[in-house]
Amino acid sequence: MYTSSREGTDSFFEAIYTQRAIRRFKPDPVPDDLLLRVLEAATKAPSGSNQQPWRFLVVRDAAKRKAMSEALKAHLQSNEAMRTYFESGAQSDDRSKRLMLTGALELAYHIDAAPAVIIPCLTSGSDRLLGGSSIYPAVQNLLLAARALGLGTVLTTFNMGIDGMLRELLGIPEAARPVALIPIGYPDGNFGPTRRKPVEEVVGWDGWD
Ligand SMILES: Cc1cc2nc3c(=O)[nH]c(=O)nc-3n(C[C@H](O)[C@H](O)[C@H](O)COP(=O)(O)O)c2cc1C
Repeated sequence: MYTSSREGTDSFFEAIYTQRAIRRFKPDPVPDDLLLRVLEAATKAPSGSNQQPWRFLVVRDAAKRKAMSEALKAHLQSNEAMRTYFESGAQSDDRSKRLMLTGALELAYHIDAAPAVIIPCLTSGSDRLLGGSSIYPAVQNLLLAARALGLGTVLTTFNMGIDGMLRELLGIPEAARPVALIPIGYPDGNFGPTRRKPVEEVVGWDGWD
């Protein structure tokens, strides 16, 4: 229905249907006003009791991005299970899985290739599912707004492996919790249709079956 493209779009449904993981970026910096639009869209999301328990850290500084990249690389190199997962995936017969995992590994090794990295942090709430439910809607708004503006993103959980380092580098207080690490930039590749289960397969009308 929608074709591949690198352009932004004003069509709500085109943005949703073509918002795919972008793991390669052009080095061009993203103007702050564009980043702010993306972040403002994030802040329009709902949250429990409208508490808006979030703070979005935007890392543009090259030295800080480099430091994150080095830390991630060291984490991956020292984490055998994770390395094996990525490397075995790269041998997969499933082309889409192979591309996803080789792309993810390359991104993990070169996160600083993105001109900016956004780290959404949960500022209050439980550690459990409920806490996440008050920030991930904002994260999804962020991904879609970026897509609409022609900016590529991918939600990663790379933050988990370098949590201590990130806290120190960015001054994140103990009470706050990074929930994702999202590189953002002009895509070096196309947006386009994503592969998902057919909707009929995942919907139960008036009950489970
Ligand atoms: C909770 C979550 C964690 C993810 N973690 C990573 C990650 O650590 N590294 C990565 O490259 N992609 C990560 N992704 C991106 C997924 O691989 C991607 O959304 C999925 O494969 C669908 O890709 P597509 O939208 O291009 O079809 C994550 C996505 C989600 C929702």
